[in-house]
Amino acid sequence: MGNVPRIFLVGPRGSGKTTVAQPLAQHLGWHWLDADERIEARAGQSIRAIFADEGEAGFRKRETDILRELTSGPERCVIATGGGIVLFPDNRDRLRTSGRVVYLTADIDTLWRRIANDSTSAERRPALSIGGREEVAQIVAAREPLYRACAHHIVDTSDRSAEEVATDILIWWQGS
Ligand code: S3P
Repeated sequence: MGNVPRIFLVGPRGSGKTTVAQPLAQHLGWHWLDADERIEARAGQSIRAIFADEGEAGFRKRETDILRELTSGPERCVIATGGGIVLFPDNRDRLRTSGRVVYLTADIDTLWRRIANDSTSAERRPALSIGGREEVAQIVAAREPLYRACAHHIVDTSDRSAEEVATDILIWWQGS
């Protein structure tokens, strides 16, 4: 199952999952998709609105449902996941056994700079706790072991373009 031609990109907000999925899929000649976009399309509302209406628990349930579909669905596909997908052990197992999991990392300042510069993301994504740079630091500290636990490969994206990161993953994929 781990050899299914499917790559999941995991990592915190601002690690570049969606941005890297596109050139990576292009190099591989695969499709790409964004799990958060699927959740929004299915719900007919933004993630921010889902959090407001159903709370984080409602969003997490939707996220798990979409992951189930994706892991039994399209192959030859690069899938950008949401930053909190790794919170549940079942999700981590599902990711690991349904393809290859690449953990995108970056230092806290880089993550925060990318998030702060992304106005679309600010409209669509709710604050998860206290917001700001401090939230980024807290979340990374809490989730780092979870991302590592399901990763087959780890790439530091700090100071690197999406194209460079995609090439790194491509070389790893071809050699694995
Ligand atoms: C979340 C990250 C977001 C989105 C939701 C929750 C998180 O995805 O799924 O707002 O818990 O870190 P991105 O990582 O794509 O921003």
